[in-house]
Amino acid sequence: MRYQIESVVDELERLRKEGQDRIYVSEESLRDLKLAVGKIIAEDSEKEMESVVALIPDRIRSATAEDFDRVLKGEPKKASKTSGDRKATLGIPLAFELPEGNKQKRWDALREIVLNCPKCNENKREGYQLVFGVGSLDADIFFCGEAPGADEEEQGEPFVGKAGQLLDKMIGAMGLAREEVYIGNIMNWRPQLPTRVGNRPPTIGEIEFCLPYLRAQIEIVKPKLIVALGATAAKGLLGSKSFRSLREVKGEWREFEKTPLLATYHPSYLLRNDSKRDKRSAWEDLLKVMERCGLPISDRQRGYFL
Ligand code: URA
Repeated sequence: MRYQIESVVDELERLRKEGQDRIYVSEESLRDLKLAVGKIIAEDSEKEMESVVALIPDRIRSATAEDFDRVLKGEPKKASKTSGDRKATLGIPLAFELPEGNKQKRWDALREIVLNCPKCNENKREGYQLVFGVGSLDADIFFCGEAPGADEEEQGEPFVGKAGQLLDKMIGAMGLAREEVYIGNIMNWRPQLPTRVGNRPPTIGEIEFCLPYLRAQIEIVKPKLIVALGATAAKGLLGSKSFRSLREVKGEWREFEKTPLLATYHPSYLLRNDSKRDKRSAWEDLLKVMERCGLPISDRQRGYFL
């Protein structure tokens, strides 16, 4: 049991460094954790430890509440619950065609397609909304987040909660207004949890299902560059195996299908993490974005801290 808890703690630390802001732990798991911490008496066998540690690494990005429960309980991986199976439930992305015409006509059509997508509607929480991108169709900068949260699924707009307020502040510090950039997400629905509290990262299957909708938005807007907010957005656009820790790619220019892409910290991570260094580092990433877009940068902006 001790090894399992250490493994979970290690993984949580790794995820936090990667910029992931929240994970879901069920009431039952919390209870188990408390119990386990209270009475770590017997060392688990080497064999058990190996099976638990083997379960953790790659799967955890797409872990469901059930996966976390299993890890905490030290149960072996269930063959039927791999991300591949979840993908099979979602199916392959649905084919769609956009009409000929100007950006607005194509974007309007795409929005209709997404908001009426049967799989998206099946997966969203009943009574709440799907979330499609917003902003200028002539934007130079395309901010891409992970997935809608509670506020977003309520209002049907990306980044309108606390993280959105910080994103607006970041955009304002760049000398721009929210309406002058484009803001989208990897996901069009909020990944479901059994409760309304807490978020979980999307599974690989969910990301792959939604990616064509995001790609189409990028193709319509044709931004000068994309800013990927956080590890999930960066992995969704660069590939799930393109890096292990966000720090490996953060602040470095990459490409998404020929559009320059820069990954930086997710605003939620900056809100939860009190590190001045990370905040300054995120701002330095945005200075790189401004430079690449040819935006004027004042001395005050150069010295700014988020
Ligand atoms: N976090 C995201 O990644 N996207 C949102 O729209 C809101 C919070």
